[in-house]
Amino acid sequence: MTSLPTPSPTLTLERERTCVDCGRVFHGLIGLCGDCGTARVEREQEVQRLAQQKVRKKRWLQMCPQLYQETDWANTALRPDLVKLARTWQPGEEKHSLLLMGDTGLGKTRVAFGLLQRFHEAGRSVYALHAGDAWDHGDHVQGLSSAVRLQYSEEMPLIEASRDCLRRARTCSLLLVDDLGKERASGNTGLLSEAVSEALFNLIEHRLTHRLPMIVTTNANGPALETRLGTDRGPALLRRLSEVCMVVE
Ligand SMILES: Nc1ncnc2c1ncn2[C@@H]1O[C@H](COP(=O)(O)OP(=O)(O)O)[C@@H](O)[C@H]1O
Ligand SMILES: [Mg+2]
Repeated sequence: MTSLPTPSPTLTLERERTCVDCGRVFHGLIGLCGDCGTARVEREQEVQRLAQQKVRKKRWLQMCPQLYQETDWANTALRPDLVKLARTWQPGEEKHSLLLMGDTGLGKTRVAFGLLQRFHEAGRSVYALHAGDAWDHGDHVQGLSSAVRLQYSEEMPLIEASRDCLRRARTCSLLLVDDLGKERASGNTGLLSEAVSEALFNLIEHRLTHRLPMIVTTNANGPALETRLGTDRGPALLRRLSEVCMVVE
């Protein structure tokens, strides 16, 4: 019977070293002692955290129009129940979305952005979409009506911005649809163009199907919205929204 080969001596890199950070002599594999190794990892994590925070802040400032960045929550023009809503609302189990209805100047959009900011700062992916095109500027597209139109533009930056807008509206974890009923209408009928109506319906239907929360604001009342969204899709859309929305008037 042949004998088993004798194992070769284990090659070890462990030896006495001087820590390159604190100068302490220690026994180890690399030139950093345990404490200094941990301190370096923590410093790197902190640098990463601050960089991510900076990116998130930049993203927020791009998404939230300046007017709404300047909301003073102590302003007495804002209804106290709406201010409380901005601080406390969470998507419910059944009523996972929020519908803010009422006259212009009530503070609906301010409250919606206040809410969105709270979720954004907690690390959720949020997106704010205007039903028309009120927040677009230059190559920046943040409106449903403009995104539907501009995805067929001849300018590549506009095509990309429109697709990005529609994609984020579909996939984010919390979406604001501001000013429902202010979509671009076609000709003089006052009804939405077929393309905008279809895009709006598909977007909301997709989010409802996947139970993705929304905050919807509108100046219009139910019947006016139904008419505007068209007899085909209007009633169905509002019925579906009312099933999942906590309504605040
Ligand atoms: N800097 C501010 N901070 C808080 N509220 C403000 C500020 N400036 C104006 N407002 C109030 O915000 C309200 C308009 O808010 P907004 O969200 O645009 O209303 P809505 O979307 O319902 O039309 C007005 O009542 C106005 O008095
Ligand atoms: Mg508004």
